[in-house]
Amino acid sequence: MIEAKNLTKRFGKQLVFENLNFKINDGEFISLIGPNGSGKTTLVKILMGLEKGTDGTLKFDQKQTIGYVPQFRNIDLDYPLNIEQFIRLNLKFTFSPAKRHDDNELITDILNKTNLTTLKDRPLGLASGGEKQKAYLAQALLNDPQILILDESTASLDVEVKMQLMDLVQELNQKYHITVIFITHDYELTQKYTQRALFFKNKTIEDVAVKDISKNMFEMEG
Ligand SMILES: Nc1ncnc2c1ncn2[C@@H]1O[C@H](COP(=O)(O)OP(=O)(O)O)[C@@H](O)[C@H]1O
Ligand SMILES: [Mg+2]
Repeated sequence: MIEAKNLTKRFGKQLVFENLNFKINDGEFISLIGPNGSGKTTLVKILMGLEKGTDGTLKFDQKQTIGYVPQFRNIDLDYPLNIEQFIRLNLKFTFSPAKRHDDNELITDILNKTNLTTLKDRPLGLASGGEKQKAYLAQALLNDPQILILDESTASLDVEVKMQLMDLVQELNQKYHITVIFITHDYELTQKYTQRALFFKNKTIEDVAVKDISKNMFEMEG
């Protein structure tokens, strides 16, 4: 379980959010919504230990590992790595043959789980948007995360491609009970895939049941 108690974040004089109180249960598929600049990425950075809260606490079982899938960014056509090589960037380098063997098995497993096995030799620069995002998802899965964060990972993908990626994430959530935190501006995807939303409003967070999620919560500007 992840639990925030009176979590507050400031950058210098700027208050980003104040007194956040919420819980996220293990295995939950939750969305994190709110306008640009409301602090969604900052919150998950605190969770990942990349930023510190100014006040209050954000606690979770420190044995749990976290995978992060960033927002879609295009990659140059002449990017030098293929899909498998790109995923392997997240492996720790080793001279040990036994460890290399384990890594190869892990890569085979992750390629299967993300439906990338037949595409593994494709240069990443020539892959479609959906394939690129699956490659980022595969990278995030390498350290066997119990918590998976999708930070606007479906933005700017076509509707069917978004759904394919989300179906895959849903399968991971259901089969392996990975907790999913889905940051999005997409009303339909929130309705279809998530069980609950944490909604940033007026520098704090509201806990919203999926039936009470409304379209006006998805405005990009605050
Ligand atoms: N490292 C930083 N230093 C100073 N201000 C920051 C930093 N990171 C984010 N901010 C500010 O904090 C606010 C929240 O940003 P962010 O968490 O990225 O919002 P969101 O992900 O909801 O769009 C914004 O006003 C942003 O400019
Ligand atoms: Mg963000």
